Amino acid sequence: MIEVKNLTKDFGFNRGVFDISFEVKKGEAYGFLGPNGAGKTTTMRMLMGFSQPGKGIATINNSDCWKNYYDILGEVGYIPGEVALPEGLSGLEFIEMMKKMKHADDSRISYLLDMFELNPDQSMKKMSIGDKRKLAIVSAFMSDPNILILDEPTSGLDPIMQNKFIELIKSEKKRGKTILLSTHIFEEVDACCDRLSIIKDGKIISTTDTDTIRNNENKVYKIEFLQDEDFNQFMKSNMNIVYSNKTKRKVRVAINDKEINRLIKIISTYQIKYFSESQFTLEDYFLKYYKDRKGESSL
Ligand SMILES: Nc1ncnc2c1ncn2[C@@H]1O[C@H](COP(=O)(O)OP(=O)(O)OP(=O)(O)O)[C@@H](O)[C@H]1O
Ligand SMILES: [Mg+2]
Repeated sequence: MIEVKNLTKDFGFNRGVFDISFEVKKGEAYGFLGPNGAGKTTTMRMLMGFSQPGKGIATINNSDCWKNYYDILGEVGYIPGEVALPEGLSGLEFIEMMKKMKHADDSRISYLLDMFELNPDQSMKKMSIGDKRKLAIVSAFMSDPNILILDEPTSGLDPIMQNKFIELIKSEKKRGKTILLSTHIFEEVDACCDRLSIIKDGKIISTTDTDTIRNNENKVYKIEFLQDEDFNQFMKSNMNIVYSNKTKRKVRVAINDKEINRLIKIISTYQIKYFSESQFTLEDYFLKYYKDRKGESSL
């Protein structure tokens, strides 16, 4: 339903997206994850037909997003990464304008306003960031579109509202909607994504089925060191470190059962404060791709 094929947008200086491909099937919720500047917004903007691909193609329902951008606008509910709303209008006027454009009905709009506890009767200029975000959510969902392209939809929302949003996408997914979701929030991925791709430096570096990770047999060992020196030394070993916190001297190592002897041998030479085993979770997978070059987690 949503497809990008060899999509490239080169901004120069290694910025942009390069030869990326993935597809989101009908009724699927697909996570699109990656660190800041990885290329998520760039890709989503090409899917919305706002920007022309350098190479490759983005299609929705087999229709070229760049050539048929007007159809895409009518079919897709989109929440932009950065919400820019016309400041001269009040929230109510904006909703009225969007309602006419999208042929939305009042009951759906009231339902969404109630859900997010938004009073639209205020000037947009004076709205808080969270209220503007809520307005963008109402506007994306008001016409009950079958396809949703959501670019960090909850940034700026408080935790209660973030949870409400998760409930909303879960129920939309149950109703058969096709969703492409870019987010840095693990709970959103865990709650609804069937598959996901990780993008880094403009390239897709991993694509996976979330259930495969949830049911996998690899283990994660949590280790806390007593001394900085031991922590630093361990960081230099070539174990698969999926998370680390230098201040707390904590690491999480993902290993296959076959490697357990090697791990025990290594840590037996250090002073250990805490050691425990757990399943390699979706969250470990998620965190692994946020590590910076030194192996520290940036979350
Ligand atoms: N119009 C533009 N002109 C030049 N460079 C751009 C432009 N838009 C984006 N970039 C660059 O392309 C890269 C990808 O940016 P993009 O906004 O797609 O990242 P992102 O994955 O959405 O990040 P974030 O998580 O911060 O939203 C960045 O290096 C960015 O500086
Ligand atoms: Mg972005």
